[in-house]
Amino acid sequence: MYLSTHSTPLEASQEVADLIIDRIKAFGPTQKKKFVMCLPTGSTPLLVYKELAKKCREGKISFEHVITINLDEYVGLHPAHPQSYYHFMEENFDIPPKQVHLLPFQPIPPHTTHTESCAEYESLITSLGGIHLLFMGIGTNGHIAFNEPASSLASRTRMIKLDQDTRRANSRFFENSLSNVPTHALTMGIGTILEAQEIVLLALGDGKAQAVKEALQGGVNHLCPASALQLHENVIIVTDNEASKNLS
Ligand code: F6R
Repeated sequence: MYLSTHSTPLEASQEVADLIIDRIKAFGPTQKKKFVMCLPTGSTPLLVYKELAKKCREGKISFEHVITINLDEYVGLHPAHPQSYYHFMEENFDIPPKQVHLLPFQPIPPHTTHTESCAEYESLITSLGGIHLLFMGIGTNGHIAFNEPASSLASRTRMIKLDQDTRRANSRFFENSLSNVPTHALTMGIGTILEAQEIVLLALGDGKAQAVKEALQGGVNHLCPASALQLHENVIIVTDNEASKNLS
């Protein structure tokens, strides 16, 4: 595990954007395979997506040979809802829809179950040849994607009940009303995440400092899902000073 700390959120985000660009370029365009990149939503990746969009406009990077897969999605929010992750990606990541894969907000087709939709997502990842680069944030309670504390470190894509801590933290996106925040989400599992070839985790702000400390310097345990990253041999943690201030 490699840790890179920066003075500001902007510098940390620029490092992540540069890393993404570097990996896409190194992969190069091939006839058969696409670069498969897994992406988060939330406030953490916003500056990274802005930077990528800028580089794309400047012609320094192209997403033509990239496929994106998202880490998670709320259950029950229509894609048109401003806080659905479908909507978030449309707003923040400019790439043709046919190259984007998101977990369904409800079982699709309607007669299937969430279990079937999640199994299909796993099959999709396998059929794409796995994830080359997985970019993610971290929750204040140490969650990665929506794998809440006590998730199995071997978990696969599934439906999960969101912790009250997570719903409270995310209520800022829902007019500060806890009752507007969905109670459940679909999430890629920790086992699924650990199969990515490379993982980059971005943590910004002092709200993440305790989670970063437990993830990096606590033992590997299911009460801090991000600690599972210690089991992966190719992980880069990028932080600003605030998020790494508790590290010894
Ligand atoms: C979102 C996701 C979550 C967030 C985490 C931090 O797709 O996977 O794990 O990364 O909740 O959220 P922010 O970035 O809003 O602090």
